[in-house]
Amino acid sequence: MTDMIASLEAKRVVPLVQSDDPATALKISEALLEGGLDVLEVVLRTDAALDCLEAIAKEFPQAHVGAGTVLSADQSEEVIRRGATFIVSPGLDPASVKVAKDAGVPILPGVSTATELQQAWNLGLRTVKLFPASLVGGPKMAKALSSVFRDVRFMPTGGVSPANLKDYLAVPAVLACGGSWLTPKDAITRGDFAAITSLAKEAVAIAQS
Ligand code: 3PG
Repeated sequence: MTDMIASLEAKRVVPLVQSDDPATALKISEALLEGGLDVLEVVLRTDAALDCLEAIAKEFPQAHVGAGTVLSADQSEEVIRRGATFIVSPGLDPASVKVAKDAGVPILPGVSTATELQQAWNLGLRTVKLFPASLVGGPKMAKALSSVFRDVRFMPTGGVSPANLKDYLAVPAVLACGGSWLTPKDAITRGDFAAITSLAKEAVAIAQS
């Protein structure tokens, strides 16, 4: 757990990996790693997502390969079996939190209100995803929530881009930002993995500035 959080603290950006086939998912991941990002969130949004996750976790043991868009306890169990070293979900599901905790796997559930965050806090969680960040108030929302939940750290996701990444990361309670802007579908369709590496490098530079 410490390793993954330490990597998040260092890179502060979590790209989403979404693909219909493991071979392409490996190329996307390779491009991201080349760009300097080593915490990858493989989202369960295609039929091949679990195979992609497993392939990436096997091929890149030096990376932190987690699963995103995890909706249930069953899915949480399955992604852990397939090699996920962390779990991200759009909302807060106590059963998934239990599965992850029992397995010693970090879980970052999505919260968009103080009530959800309080529920997460009472489940013992101190790192959550703020989702969909841009629609629930952006950096100001992270700041407002952190003034009350002083020991919570946030991973805003949803609407994050190179244009606003710096504003999010300027909030002390923001640990890292997640997003799909690093892996655009058109670049993947064109087979332009160099574009993904460039986007990753740009994000690393913004995060370090
Ligand atoms: C997620 O699953 O976290 C979001 O779909 C990411 O949102 P984005 O596509 O706006 O980055």
